[in-house]
Amino acid sequence: MAIWTGEDGRLFLLQTKDSTYQMYADRHGVLLHTYYGKRIGEENLSDLIFQADVGFSGNPAEAVMDRTYSLDCLPQELPSSGVGDYRGGCVELLHSDGSMAADFRFEGYEILPYSYQVPGMPSLFDTNEETGQTLIIRMKERASEVRAYLYYGIFEEKNVITKAVRIENHGKSPVVLSKCLSGCLDFQYGEYELITFPGRHAMERSLERNKVGRTKLEVGSIRGTSSHQYNPAVILCTPGTTEDHGECYGECLVYSSNFIASAQKDQRGQIRVLMGIHPEQFSFCLNEGEAFDTPQVILSYSDEGFTKLSRQYHRILKEHMCRGKYCRQKRPVLLNNWEATYFDFNEEKLLKIARQASELGIEMLVLDDGWFGKRDDDNSGLGDWYVNEKKLGGSLKQLGEKIHAMGMCFGIWFEPEMISEDSDLYRQHPDWALRIPGREPNRARNQLVLDMSREDVREYLLERLTDILANAPIDYVKWDMNRSLCDIYSHVYTGKRRGEVYHRFILGVYDLLEKFLARFPDILLEGCSGGGGRFDAAMLYYSPQIWCSDNTDAVNRLSIQYGTSFFYPVSAMGAHVSATPNHQTGRETFFRTRGHVALSGSFGYELDLNKVTKEEQDLVKEQIADFHRYYSLTHEGDYYRLAGPEERFCAWEFVDREKEHALQTLVMTSAEGNPLPVHTIVKGLDPEKNYICSANGKIHSGRTWMNGGLTLGRILREYESILITWDAV
Ligand code: DGJ
Repeated sequence: MAIWTGEDGRLFLLQTKDSTYQMYADRHGVLLHTYYGKRIGEENLSDLIFQADVGFSGNPAEAVMDRTYSLDCLPQELPSSGVGDYRGGCVELLHSDGSMAADFRFEGYEILPYSYQVPGMPSLFDTNEETGQTLIIRMKERASEVRAYLYYGIFEEKNVITKAVRIENHGKSPVVLSKCLSGCLDFQYGEYELITFPGRHAMERSLERNKVGRTKLEVGSIRGTSSHQYNPAVILCTPGTTEDHGECYGECLVYSSNFIASAQKDQRGQIRVLMGIHPEQFSFCLNEGEAFDTPQVILSYSDEGFTKLSRQYHRILKEHMCRGKYCRQKRPVLLNNWEATYFDFNEEKLLKIARQASELGIEMLVLDDGWFGKRDDDNSGLGDWYVNEKKLGGSLKQLGEKIHAMGMCFGIWFEPEMISEDSDLYRQHPDWALRIPGREPNRARNQLVLDMSREDVREYLLERLTDILANAPIDYVKWDMNRSLCDIYSHVYTGKRRGEVYHRFILGVYDLLEKFLARFPDILLEGCSGGGGRFDAAMLYYSPQIWCSDNTDAVNRLSIQYGTSFFYPVSAMGAHVSATPNHQTGRETFFRTRGHVALSGSFGYELDLNKVTKEEQDLVKEQIADFHRYYSLTHEGDYYRLAGPEERFCAWEFVDREKEHALQTLVMTSAEGNPLPVHTIVKGLDPEKNYICSANGKIHSGRTWMNGGLTLGRILREYESILITWDAV
């Protein structure tokens, strides 16, 4: 049983295979957080909390003369706000009498033998292989009729615990939520560091590690997307934690819009970590009987460093978040025409590219931006989802059939959430765009954003998507989103509902995606937001792969894919071989290296293969053979980061679950005079089995390989790469 409640019905232990999470509702009904870490027994740890009379940290009335009892010092699950906890709480409430206070106390609990689903939002789901369990803790606000329900989901075997909060107004008067986070994690003792994944467009998810002190560490997004700039996933770790050693905790928010994640030490050295929807420009009005649900946050703990933590996230996301047949089924090797032609294509060009691609073994042609409306550059046409038959020299159906006749699948690009001012849609429905009346809007890529909170907007988009897909043989859709939101003003959600628009926008996106996939369940969807601007757990619910970055430079991709791998599975990272010199960086790299880097992702090409040499065309065949040969390792195997992108060479490895095969990719990141040898370590083998290594043909036991490693027999040139295999004999 993953959930254990103490005899008094106030102690709660959530047990996973290797971790324990503990809470205790004290005599005043405050839900204390008493432990999260390595698995322990079923004992009450609330006596770890040391209470003292702390100056300027007041005491609630019910403590009477006990000056040591202060909400400002206790580790809590749903910290209050406005009533004496100064560390920043989860929920802020504005009551109809003008007061601002939220003080939730324990009322009771319930256990469900399955995992909860957050209404209208992606959540981890049960499968035949593993069913989660749910603990719901009921809390009541002390001076009003507002109720909070704390949801805890436990996936015991996966070492995962989830949290979400539901707020309900049971009173007659409306209340306004001005902040509602998904979770608080309080640490009473210990020193920690916070790892975040900052970046920018085309350089997403690098890694930053900072000591948690009294100065608040905070990342977030107010762009209406999870963003290129910060990712809604953070790690808290003990100093010195490495890939294989040390304690670390992951927090990953299942949300694709504004978020905040912060960590700070309080006056007594306790650390509070908060995560959830960003409170800026957020408020949600709850009339009598109305409810608000936060997105889910996925927690996981490892006492064996980052490799184990990442594996736990990879498994839970692959098995309990990704849906649809392509979640397990092999995905076709694709060729996307974007970097091959940009907007400058016609039927002849596309067919020539497709013909060559199919001869080399590519399995799908993706027609990117520019096939609809008036769209020969990025200044017009968005919203007019009608096929430009003149440009295509016929219908999309005819084009799709010709591609299918070559033995390939056919995919197309959409950017449903956007609208160009130069479009028929905008001329007909200017009020469908997010813009503030009387103010010039901010334009990005010369486009505006549709008000996805509106049902009529979503109905239009669903009708257009359905019409296009029902009338052409389309197997894949790339769902793009190419700007950040601002000028938030909806003609539907006005007045006191104004602060709901950001959240309702993303609920609208989820609603449209859900309806679209219900209508076309076999479509392979690839998420995209100018590359990796919406690379988050929630989008994986709809699309098992996400275009990882608009940067296709193989060397930059080392750091982008490295940072992405801390939470997200390799199978989710869209990665393509593109032309050299690279279009984003001008860098020249070997064709082979571009292939090796892209093979550790959702593999494809993004160039005109008529324009490469015969030798490179042969390499395409080789790479596709490698893709098929190693697919089960790269997409289902365990992943190990061996050497990071900042090192002399970058290396990573996959090992299958049976420990029969391992594949290592190694890329030289710099050249040096008087070069040093390349010695690589090997991880994850079975110490008792013997393995033959492709690099030198030697056979050793797994124990020997893992301890002695491998020295390459020659020096690799700058950006040269190598694939090395170990196979059990
Ligand atoms: C941004 C995407 O990331 C690119 O791959 C491409 O689809 C363009 N948008 C098209 O406008």
